[in-house]
Amino acid sequence: MEQIEKVIDEKKQGKALITQQKESNNKKLFIESYGCQMNMNDSEIVAAILSEQGYNTTQSLDDADLVLVNTCSIREKAEQTVRNRLQKYNHAKNRNPKMKVGVLGCMAERLKAKFLEEEKIVDLVVGPDAYRDLPNLIEEVEAGRDAVNVILSKDETYGDVSPVRLNSNGVSAFVSITRGCDNMCTFCVVPFTRGRERSRDPKSILEEIRSMQEKNFKEITLLGQNVDSYLWYGGGLKKDFKNASEMAQATAVDFAQLLDMCATEFPKIRFRFSTSNPQDMTLDVIHVMAKHKNICKYIHLPVQSGSNAILKAMNRQHTREEYMELVDNIYKIIPEMALSQDMIAGFCGETEEDHKDTLDLMEHVKYSFGFMFAYSERPGTLAAKKMTDDVSLETKKRRLQEIINLQQKHSLYRAKEHVGQIQEVLIEGTSKKNPNEWKGRNTQNTVVVFPKEHYKMGDFVNVKINDCTSTTLLGTAVGYSDNN
Ligand code: SAH
Ligand code: F3S
Repeated sequence: MEQIEKVIDEKKQGKALITQQKESNNKKLFIESYGCQMNMNDSEIVAAILSEQGYNTTQSLDDADLVLVNTCSIREKAEQTVRNRLQKYNHAKNRNPKMKVGVLGCMAERLKAKFLEEEKIVDLVVGPDAYRDLPNLIEEVEAGRDAVNVILSKDETYGDVSPVRLNSNGVSAFVSITRGCDNMCTFCVVPFTRGRERSRDPKSILEEIRSMQEKNFKEITLLGQNVDSYLWYGGGLKKDFKNASEMAQATAVDFAQLLDMCATEFPKIRFRFSTSNPQDMTLDVIHVMAKHKNICKYIHLPVQSGSNAILKAMNRQHTREEYMELVDNIYKIIPEMALSQDMIAGFCGETEEDHKDTLDLMEHVKYSFGFMFAYSERPGTLAAKKMTDDVSLETKKRRLQEIINLQQKHSLYRAKEHVGQIQEVLIEGTSKKNPNEWKGRNTQNTVVVFPKEHYKMGDFVNVKINDCTSTTLLGTAVGYSDNN
């Protein structure tokens, strides 16, 4: 008994000591993120881990003791942007030689210790699954040693870390539900940089959303490389199960169920999710979306190409016909659904015919938005190893422009569908163009601007849509929606 009390006492003292340390050890962290929403959310996790070590974030590079850049490897240009940024840090480090610089994220994972040689300014290199090790790595750097941890994990989800919200508007936030990707699309570096797919415990997801609600957040976007393959059955990898019946015996929660749980438990929160993968998306998800008013009627459903030959070469596990059938079914169940795409122009072996198939598929779907890219070969991917990047840059650019032009036409077509309607909009900030107008998004994710009047940030407002451009709806508020 005495023994136990002693231990408890020591623990208490330890806690007091840590608190003291925190106060006296007030260091400044400057953290920047490039790339996907997942990176933005990871930086918030990193800020939380380091706040335990007494680091507060600063917006000023010159004030920073520690500068961290969360990097993206998806295309060559993304990596170049980060390298240019590192040059800028150089000037700051010249002014403040004690400043330490760390590289996080996908470039850290891809380049590993090579980063330290290639970019002299870099002191530490930390991959996406190693952020818990940051306090130790920083100690190593301070002791003058190299600090690299790029070990990928089978089960790290940072489920217990409560992110410090960075650059937040206080209204909408991201919550990660899966990490990594098992799909191995032949063009994509993500499976190499972010490792195997793993799902986060639904309990910790719901807890995080509850704490966001208490802080008055109104919209949550559930994040994953591939949210539709979310599956919780107690942790670890899906493939650890020996067979299907063993897996079925575990009490599993899939994405449709998770979405249903979230929307039911938090009826006042508006939910979005990203990214969906057509090969894993089930109509169960669409039925759950139809059931709940607070799940936004918008799906980002990347297809990459409209040609069966290219889809096959990309190792996407569906045909154009299967994709179009899925889209038709989605529109049938929820006619007002907005869809968006990712497209890659000029993948290895893409012919003019393949490209026409892409334009044709776009005509069929008429996406509301699109994220379109010229193919960029990534070292280490199957496409880099086994295929030839044989479409000329000129052709890639021309095809990309044709895809972008068609998307703009469809975006305008979709935007016009909203004109004349009254739509619920969540106010997220002031319009960039006019300080007297609010901006927010409707359920389909289209930006809406309207005169501020007496409304405030975070209000759900019914807005009459009077006019539009291809990207923005222009309206006037007609009153609060019943969601307030
Ligand atoms: N998990 C998502 C995609 C993540 S990467 C999915 O299911 O598709 C985001 C987008 O970047 C991809 O959809 C793809 O369009 C683009 N992309 C990925 N690798 C690329 C490459 N090597 N060149 C050009 N674009 C690429
Ligand atoms: Fe990349 Fe394909 Fe996964 S695009 S993130 S490997 S679904």
